[in-house]
Amino acid sequence: MNIFSKLGWFFKQEKKRYIIGVSFLALTSIANLVPPRILGLMADQLDKGSISWSEYAALILAVVAAAIVLYLLRYFWRKQIWGGAVSSVPKERTHYYQRHRTGDLMAHATNDINSIQNVAGDGVLTLVDSLFTGGTTMIAMIIFTDFRLTVIALLPLPFLALGAWKLGDKLHYSFDKSQAAFSRLNNKTQESVSGIKVLKAFGESKQDSAAFNKMVDETIQINKKVFKWDSMFDPLGTLIIGATYVITIIYGGLLVTNHTLSVGQLVSFIAYISNMVWPMFAIGYLFNILERGSASYDRVERLLYERPQITDENADQSLTVKDIQGDLKYDIRSFAYPDEKEIPVLQNIDFTLKPGQTLGLVGKVGAGKTTIIELLLREFDHYQGKITLGGHDIRNIPLKLLLNEISYVPQNNFLFSTSIEKNIAFSDQDATKNKIESAAQKSDLHDDIMQMPAGYQTLVGENGVSLSGGQKQRLSIARALLKESPILILDDALSAVDAKTETAILNSLRSERKGKKTLIAAHRLTSVMDADLILVLKNGKIVERGKHADLLAQDGWYAEMWRKQELQAKVGEIDGQ
Ligand SMILES: Nc1ncnc2c1ncn2[C@@H]1O[C@H](COP(=O)(O)OP(=O)(O)OP(=O)(O)O)[C@@H](O)[C@H]1O
Ligand SMILES: [Mg+2]
Repeated sequence: MNIFSKLGWFFKQEKKRYIIGVSFLALTSIANLVPPRILGLMADQLDKGSISWSEYAALILAVVAAAIVLYLLRYFWRKQIWGGAVSSVPKERTHYYQRHRTGDLMAHATNDINSIQNVAGDGVLTLVDSLFTGGTTMIAMIIFTDFRLTVIALLPLPFLALGAWKLGDKLHYSFDKSQAAFSRLNNKTQESVSGIKVLKAFGESKQDSAAFNKMVDETIQINKKVFKWDSMFDPLGTLIIGATYVITIIYGGLLVTNHTLSVGQLVSFIAYISNMVWPMFAIGYLFNILERGSASYDRVERLLYERPQITDENADQSLTVKDIQGDLKYDIRSFAYPDEKEIPVLQNIDFTLKPGQTLGLVGKVGAGKTTIIELLLREFDHYQGKITLGGHDIRNIPLKLLLNEISYVPQNNFLFSTSIEKNIAFSDQDATKNKIESAAQKSDLHDDIMQMPAGYQTLVGENGVSLSGGQKQRLSIARALLKESPILILDDALSAVDAKTETAILNSLRSERKGKKTLIAAHRLTSVMDADLILVLKNGKIVERGKHADLLAQDGWYAEMWRKQELQAKVGEIDGQ
């Protein structure tokens, strides 16, 4: 029930809806008592044989009228409570969500908000319904029929609540699992179908079929569990309700023969029992909703009130753009990711980059190139050592000021489902058409765009054309160049473009980036060969450093890699001819 008090803010905000809804619900519960009572009266009259046709017709009309009133009341109160819950919970809190990672956000947005919504809608519905309908029906049973019969006949019903609670829980979790299994299977199918050429080329298709079959089997097993719980659910309900009826007929019949109870009272009683079934189910169901809602609420609350790790608390607010124009200096002794604190990902990273200079970061997959960049972007603050910009520790520079200095092309470029133009202008919404075009020209994308159906207005993403990997990268570069920041970071941003395009982009960067700092992380060494300083990383440490010529002379990893890539390029050229 704690969850209800946690959601107090929402109930308060939607007070009017809930008061109206619950009032209608109370009326519904009372109106619910009418038809069984009329049925009872009718049975008594029939039993006595004293009913006239007009009385008969009046009673039937009363039942019909009660049914119509019930329908209307039910409609109104559901509309009040559901309307409030559906329209307000998500709207209230969505703006908090912008700060969080997409995956988390999606999970919380769909599952957890849904569960909380269920408390506010279904939870309230079941709580009030089970209390009101159950309570009033029980009172009516005692007043209009017999106290002992009520107690004895209703004995099995709490088991209905228990069954609904426990089985409902099992059913819910197995259903969740089955959904997850189904989506895994879907992904696998998609992957296998779209990767069929690669799989065949590498002779992996047999293994892939085996993996696929295994996944199908798993999915079947999980679904069998769902059906197991589901098929237990209904028979259990029927069994318990049946037991209630049997007790009623045996004991009630006895009371009728004893003349303690009239036939009409027994008929009313039997009709009241059906009124009790839903509230009992509802109580069990309610426990489920509350348990899930409460867990979800805690998760969402944790997310909402989580303090950002990176704060501006130590920032020197007097710093201005001018103060941070100087050298970029790294002096990191060690850094480890928060969830794997024991393994240092970076060790002894030191270098200085002057305005106008370019830094190249190379090394195998997982060497630490992206991590070096992330620290400059202040994704993490807890490293030993420091990074300074213009002599100021970047942890003391107001975050906004620092990030404004940097244009960043991430390794996984991201496009929005909108026009090319808007995608480029993302870093500067007010950029003129000329500026956007010039950024596209510098990143060698302009000619590609001109060939698209609607030029710069062509939509990309889900609703529009799909760009090639290289086009996506060039678009991301154009976006970064538009901002003309003192620091430009390209993280593996040229990997999908061909050698000619790479040269064109690097040439325009050279003139564009005069007097500014540029960091390029890359696998293809031609991307960094003109850099003023190249760092070769291995397991988070600098193993070679210098200019291109120095590194070739050192004859280490860089030189070996250079020869390999040169050979590959030649083979590629021959292939291409
Ligand atoms: N968020 C993270 N949490 C824990 N470990 C991480 C995280 N991100 C990266 N790592 C690990 O840190 C190491 C360095 O990764 P990083 O992404 O910096 O390498 P990289 O040189 O950019 O590789 P690539 O060439 O594939 O881009 C790797 O061992 C990686 O597994
Ligand atoms: Mg990387």
